[in-house]
Amino acid sequence: MTAVQERTWTTVCRVEDLLVGRGVAALLPAGDQVAVFRTRDGLHVLSNHDPFSCAAVLSRGIVGDRGGVPVVVSPVYKQAFELATGRCVDDADVAVATYPVEVWDGYVRVGSP
Ligand code: FES
Repeated sequence: MTAVQERTWTTVCRVEDLLVGRGVAALLPAGDQVAVFRTRDGLHVLSNHDPFSCAAVLSRGIVGDRGGVPVVVSPVYKQAFELATGRCVDDADVAVATYPVEVWDGYVRVGSP
């Protein structure tokens, strides 16, 4: 028999508290620091940890696009990460974790990976 691990959801804030094109940092119960972004297309959640600078800063990155693909650019060394996949646009060997996100009764909830 295979054990099925339940996903846990953490309520972060109200959707209306998030500005379009900006990120906020949140701490999940398991200790993960995440960066929550609201764009015109919806919500995206990545690890807040920038693997190039080893700093928890991606929530403070600049949201934009590279060739039409929505990205966040680290405020430290300026590498860009795709909001949808976490892939680093500047280094194909690097990616940051992404997290499921949903809106529940007007609140943003982030799921365990
Ligand atoms: S602390 Fe350096 S990559 Fe995470």
